[in-house]
Amino acid sequence: MNNNMRGIRIIGTGSYTPPMKITNDELAEILDTSDEWIFTRTGIKTRHYNGGNPNYTMAVEAAKRALENAGVSPADIDYIVVSTSTPDFIYPITACLVQNAVGAANAACLDINMACTGFVAGLDMIRGLLYSGYNKILFVASECLSLHADFTDRATCVLFGDGAGAVVLERADKLFVSCMKAKGVSAENPILYYKQENEHNLPFNDSEQKQTEYKTCFLQMDGKEVYKFAVDAMPEAAKAACAKAGLDVDEIDLFIPHQANIRIVQTAVKSLGVSMDKVYTNIEAHGNTSSACMPVCLDELNKAGKLKEGMKLCFVGFGAGLTYGAVIIEL
Ligand code: ACO
Repeated sequence: MNNNMRGIRIIGTGSYTPPMKITNDELAEILDTSDEWIFTRTGIKTRHYNGGNPNYTMAVEAAKRALENAGVSPADIDYIVVSTSTPDFIYPITACLVQNAVGAANAACLDINMACTGFVAGLDMIRGLLYSGYNKILFVASECLSLHADFTDRATCVLFGDGAGAVVLERADKLFVSCMKAKGVSAENPILYYKQENEHNLPFNDSEQKQTEYKTCFLQMDGKEVYKFAVDAMPEAAKAACAKAGLDVDEIDLFIPHQANIRIVQTAVKSLGVSMDKVYTNIEAHGNTSSACMPVCLDELNKAGKLKEGMKLCFVGFGAGLTYGAVIIEL
């Protein structure tokens, strides 16, 4: 069979947005910023925070909702994959916490950390798992960025929110094409990173300088560099995926881009040569929830009855690494 026709079917979607909604004005009470500054530069009006609660609680809720929407019993799931760059533990992995909470006793478990590219990369990888013999896969992307934001860094913290989205996937003879890429950064200038502070005294330590280099447990970003990278990377990946699929970009029914900020999306879409009517965004209400952005969009579209059999969707994203990529699926 043509490899491009080894596709996936989304049999259920779910998402969880925590109830704590923070407006730009509320951020302006603790930071030197304003609704006008944030909205005009990013398109963000509100974001949701999980109120200090752990990330996995959102993952579990989104997973339960996707299973219910799919009408699939947890026992029938044979793999759980969780995308998160903000896990509560390095281990146990978040997928195992989800497995335990939803009662998916027959599932294998795997976490991936591809930062904001996690949903695109996960779809690509899960396609491989489905064709290696796993039948029903629960894929959850969950991110709790409020726990990792530096609320004294006004250029960064205002961008992010918390949330989780999930899909239940199986094999289908439908179009599936991916194009994953990366432009690896140096450890001296990682551009977008989060590094946990090492607080214990290492008994055998000859790297004093290295240990103090990134003395932070907050997400750090060179916003301008990320912007420059993203506006080229997203159209490049989407065009390459379309070429691989033998499609013109006009033949894509809907683009679901990483919801980093509206200016990045608008610039990338302009360079792709498609109309914003074909692009789904929810940045205004959610901010950037990293790898959770796309499955939350997907669930909103599903709930609104906007996903139709035969539609061609293009997921296109970028993230820390720097990584980027696009996946085209036919529903
Ligand atoms: N409120 C008010 N003023 C601010 C704020 C704020 N929240 N943040 C920065 N400023 C100030 C700066 O201090 C600066 O002031 P100065 O000129 O007196 O020094 C001024 O605004 C302009 O700062 P810039 O950094 O030049 O602002 P810019 O127009 O570049 O916008 C932004 C910053 C929005 C972060 C932009 O660089 C951007 O969109 N970058 C991409 C970031 C992004 O979306 N990353 C993705 C996240 S990670 C991921 O999803 C993979």
